[in-house]
Amino acid sequence: MRGVADCGVFVVTMMLFLPVSGPGILVLTTLTSKGGVRAELGAAAGVIAGKPLLIERLRASPSGSVNLNWFAGICWMGLGVKLALFRRNEQDLMGKIFCVANQKGGVGKTTTTVNLAAGLAQVGQRVLMVDLDPQGNATMGSGVDKRQLKLSLYDVLLESATISAARVQSEKLIEAGCSYDILGANRELAGAEVELVDVERREKRLKQALVAVDKEYDFVLIDCPPSLSMLTLNGLCSANGVIVPMQCEYFALEGLTDLVNTIKQVHANLNPDLQLIGLLRVMFDSRITLQQQVSEQLKDHFGDKVFDAVIPRNVRLAEAPSYGLPGVVFDPSAKGSQAFVEFAREMVARVGKL
Ligand SMILES: Nc1ncnc2c1ncn2[C@@H]1O[C@H](COP(=O)(O)OP(=O)(O)OP(=O)(O)O)[C@@H](O)[C@H]1O
Ligand SMILES: [Mg+2]
Repeated sequence: MRGVADCGVFVVTMMLFLPVSGPGILVLTTLTSKGGVRAELGAAAGVIAGKPLLIERLRASPSGSVNLNWFAGICWMGLGVKLALFRRNEQDLMGKIFCVANQKGGVGKTTTTVNLAAGLAQVGQRVLMVDLDPQGNATMGSGVDKRQLKLSLYDVLLESATISAARVQSEKLIEAGCSYDILGANRELAGAEVELVDVERREKRLKQALVAVDKEYDFVLIDCPPSLSMLTLNGLCSANGVIVPMQCEYFALEGLTDLVNTIKQVHANLNPDLQLIGLLRVMFDSRITLQQQVSEQLKDHFGDKVFDAVIPRNVRLAEAPSYGLPGVVFDPSAKGSQAFVEFAREMVARVGKL
């Protein structure tokens, strides 16, 4: 919608300011948008450079002088529309599909995914949560019984169902007024890896399926399994960015190097959109000196790629899944829940700036 609105603004601007030359257009269009500034600079430069040539050509034709203004104006309008559409594409590409990944097990990926999903829903974002782990923890932790799923991510990857048909919602989350869509998973999903082994472009299956629905959401969050398997690769190929939850421990830093290299490889070979969005410090205990030291090292090394939000170790977050609820919904007043809502706000702000 924003792209269409931009397009409208641009056309009106063009109509009002037909006689204004290139620099005028540059200023006006730059004022109407932040995201497309680069495109507009390029296009305005094109207008400025191209106009004298156009005028020269028209002057050469007998009726050229009569039509000159109209013709130049129409060209500018066409350029404006094209530019606005280009800007819309640029916005569509702007990150909104995020993998929560770390090949290390038990670091808080699922806790991060479900609480971020609930936190984003709480601040008014439309969210799809994709459970890419055959353990189905994110499905259960969102209040959906993985054993009762009629359709799941498995069917989507095998192309026997669309995401629209397979996604579900959780009654508990609807009751709590903090709902998001869930593309669930269960043990069946482990079979997909084997069944797709001979299929070409199998790592792009999720990406292809998401194309049909991603415009319905502000955020798509993918909970990855603790491995760099074909399933995780499907997540990385679909995403614009990776969120890495990590505990501030020595071995966590070692594992991070592998993950960053994997992201670089996927970026170079399979998905040029993919970037590391940020590192999220989870299960943090500020009383432990080693954790503080590792946290400082992370900031020194990764700078603003380290999220400001820090998720403390908090027993309410650990209790919540047994009630089929994200901590944010289970106990909104808990320190861990508040930290996740803070994180959700930070994500909204970061995506706006991407
Ligand atoms: N901030 C926290 N405070 C206390 N406990 C937490 C916190 N975050 C996660 N946990 C607990 O740690 C355990 C592992 O968390 P979680 O399941 O989110 O990790 P994971 O990375 O998804 O694991 P896996 O690699 O198996 O998918 C769970 O029991 C969870 O409840
Ligand atoms: Mg998990």
